[in-house]
Amino acid sequence: MHAFEKESEYKERLAAIASRRTIAIISHPDAGKTTLTERLLLLGGAIQLAGTVKGRKSQRSATADWMAIEKERGISVTAAVMQFAYGDGLINLVDTPGHEDFSEDTYRTLTAVDAALMVIDAAKGVEERTRRLMEVCRMHGTPIVTFINKLDRDGRNPLVLLDEIEQAFGLACAPVNWPLGMGSSLAGLYDLELNQVLDYRRRQGTGYAMQSIRDMDDPWLMAALGSDRQQVLEELHLVRGVMPTYNEEAYLAGMLTPVFFGSALRGLGVDALLQGVLRFGPSPRPRQAVERLVQPEEEGFSGFVFKIQANMDPQHRDRIAFVRIVSGTFQRGMALCCVRTGKAIRSHEALALFAGSRSGVELAYPGDIIGLPNHGTLAVGDTLTQGECLHFTGIPHFAPELFRAVILTEPLKSKALLKGLEQLSEEGALQFFRPVVGSGLVVGAVGPLQFEVAAHRLRQEYGVNCRFEGVAVQQARWVTGPAAAMKAFLDKYPSQLARDASGHMVYLAPSTVNLRLVQERHAELSFAATRERAGEEAGKT
Ligand code: G4P
Repeated sequence: MHAFEKESEYKERLAAIASRRTIAIISHPDAGKTTLTERLLLLGGAIQLAGTVKGRKSQRSATADWMAIEKERGISVTAAVMQFAYGDGLINLVDTPGHEDFSEDTYRTLTAVDAALMVIDAAKGVEERTRRLMEVCRMHGTPIVTFINKLDRDGRNPLVLLDEIEQAFGLACAPVNWPLGMGSSLAGLYDLELNQVLDYRRRQGTGYAMQSIRDMDDPWLMAALGSDRQQVLEELHLVRGVMPTYNEEAYLAGMLTPVFFGSALRGLGVDALLQGVLRFGPSPRPRQAVERLVQPEEEGFSGFVFKIQANMDPQHRDRIAFVRIVSGTFQRGMALCCVRTGKAIRSHEALALFAGSRSGVELAYPGDIIGLPNHGTLAVGDTLTQGECLHFTGIPHFAPELFRAVILTEPLKSKALLKGLEQLSEEGALQFFRPVVGSGLVVGAVGPLQFEVAAHRLRQEYGVNCRFEGVAVQQARWVTGPAAAMKAFLDKYPSQLARDASGHMVYLAPSTVNLRLVQERHAELSFAATRERAGEEAGKT
């Protein structure tokens, strides 16, 4: 506690921190993220009716729809973070854009949460998008809670599913409950700790009735299992005997995941999942800055920008910076400073990005995410403090996975094009590269929609008409190494090298095989798939 802070304020702050859980859902399209989000919001009392969460098909549909959605940007911005209370907890559910919206933002959002909720479709198991998102979680050691969804349909054997998760991610699985059957023979969910079953065939209020079980011969259990009895009992014995049990240390290190089964659509097992999120946590974690480790309990405010979203009014180039609070209490109007530029940042217009309303925020605590409207003064990766020089790490730029050549249709607009690309790149909306030879420009993204949005915004905000065309680049890596080795490399591959918006050297590989070969031949150089600004900037200050 600081000498000037009242004890009651300090206690209030500690309680606020302890109650918060900031999480994101990661899943492959169609695994049930939207349905689950809706269920969670229903349980938290944030919505009254299933079917209220915006989007679904409309959000995932074609670009034209996205452009229309952009007009309602107020709504899509507010839906970016959903805060709701449950029991003693306060959950900040940070949306990871799905489907075609997939972009670098999706990756970076995962750097702003303390845990991730992995949703797996029981019939499909581990899918591609989940793998990619999990790579980012692994990079950060993010604790993972798993929800195996759609138990009301026939799916894969639960033991096989857990095995797949272990194999795919090297994550030990500690089931919290276990399905008694699946699809049409689903009898309920067996709570492995409490020895009780959530009876899927008996509704109670808005949920399901709870049945206590004495032992494995329990008459109710025998009757409920019907013809699947033998198999399910064997599974239960196996699960009890060989599956790991929850271990906090392993969970927090991202080495073990508690697994919940259920059905988002039927509202089965979602309560248990939410209780698990509260129980396993963690509450807002300390965060590493280049200078030191920052604890959430510290009085001084600190936070970092992990996403920038262009606002609805293109005339004003208004942007909203999403700031994850790391320490201290945010109070509207407080004086904040952007460490990179040393400039004061206005906090009078700070927004709470909650579902349903885009309201001003008066007070916010570590774990919370606030929106700061600005005119391009804030960039992804920026640290905000009350004056202390801190550079939070772990908010990287990811190497793009898709590349296009930029074709300017009006030659006189090349200056405006460069400015637009630079700014879009600062925002993290896409990345652009200037090949060291020739005058062409290459842009890169991790989701195809990023190109569409960039072309649209270049037209609207910078008055530049351009189109993007295919280019022979498949992979990009930031290259660093001793000056002499870099020079030799540049002389050898001038046509494959480019500089990114910040002037860093990038190798643009025409194929994965080529990249591997070049990496093997140049072991003296480092080829990085991510680039962070924090270290570079801290070096400058
Ligand atoms: P997403 O956001 O991860 O893409 O998935 P979403 O929730 O939109 O769910 C994808 C489809 O899966 C939806 O059906 C949804 O109703 C269904 N679904 C989600 N959870 C469950 C579940 O527990 N059980 C079953 N049986 N289905 C589930 P859809 O027909 O594609 O869309 P819609 O018309 O219902 O919106």
